[in-house]
Amino acid sequence: ENPAYQAEFDAKIDAGGYIEAKDWMPESYRKTLVRQISQHAHSEIVGMLPEGNWITRAPTLKRKAILLAKVQDEGGHGLYLYAAAETLGVSRDELLDALHSGRAKYSSIFNYPTLTWADIGVVGWLVDGAAIMNQIPLCKCSYGPYARAMVRICKEESFHQRQGYDLLLTMMKGTQEQRDMVQDAVNRWWWPSIMMFGPHDKDSTHSAQSARWGIKRISNDDLRQKFVDATVEQAKVLGVTMPDPELKWNEARGHYDFGAIDWDEFWNVVNGHGQGNVDRLAARVKAWDDGAWVREAALEYARKHDARDSQ
Ligand code: ACO
Repeated sequence: ENPAYQAEFDAKIDAGGYIEAKDWMPESYRKTLVRQISQHAHSEIVGMLPEGNWITRAPTLKRKAILLAKVQDEGGHGLYLYAAAETLGVSRDELLDALHSGRAKYSSIFNYPTLTWADIGVVGWLVDGAAIMNQIPLCKCSYGPYARAMVRICKEESFHQRQGYDLLLTMMKGTQEQRDMVQDAVNRWWWPSIMMFGPHDKDSTHSAQSARWGIKRISNDDLRQKFVDATVEQAKVLGVTMPDPELKWNEARGHYDFGAIDWDEFWNVVNGHGQGNVDRLAARVKAWDDGAWVREAALEYARKHDARDSQ
């Protein structure tokens, strides 16, 4: 602890400025960022799995090309975020080891299965929609490398959200069976999507401190409300309903009211006991192990070049 450095840090935060990798920062600020950025990176990488699952079964060449590009984008997001975390003095190997050994968290949402093609549309519309709502404020968060990574990520997420909505609009113009498939997917994904914003503000461990540090610019509950308000209107255009009988416009508040969230389900999934946790982690570890030869080959190639350059 150094009072002079601390005062400079506080002043920069209060002025809404950015903290850069080489600036002095409190150890607890650094640890919070490593926690959040690495969880975020893991979410992007694990998030490739439920969708990657459908690449071989996309119904048309156009949809296949879109899905391939989207899943590849998610991989890229994970890599920018690991790079942002590395600026805080942790190694990518450490972070990946925490993921592969089951010690690290990643977003609860990616432990739900993608059962039909409509799920791919709903993941784009609701899951990426919720992700953008949470991530736009992060473009202005106080840690420079994280904020800058988020700018490009948000642009790509917005394409992901639109492709999902477009896919669903197409299905809703199709047969009754297709419309039923969309409604069924919405029924399964709605509640998990609004859980993505995390616990209520009063139950959120890190919110107050993260808000003080300018990492969290908008609270979990406020973002959730913004998401509900925007999405209910989009559902009307699409012609689907949300599986919540208590969802209704509240004139006095100027927002939609909605039913109680099942937090037992949320914590169960976060703590590793959701429908898909075991399979997701196993698929991720297998992908890592199967890629070992690529990493070795790349290192060997670099070694040969280094040796040649130094001759
Ligand atoms: N899934 C899994 N864990 C969660 C979730 C969730 N949806 N929401 C909260 N948690 C965890 C937190 O990580 C924290 O656990 P920890 O103390 O072991 O780290 C705990 O629940 C308490 O929550 P909060 O105190 O509210 O935590 P925090 O202030 O970090 O807020 C939030 C959570 C909003 C998710 C924040 O970390 C954030 O904005 N992260 C960056 C965005 C992100 O990770 N998005 C991933 C999904 S989007 C995508 O990848 C397409």
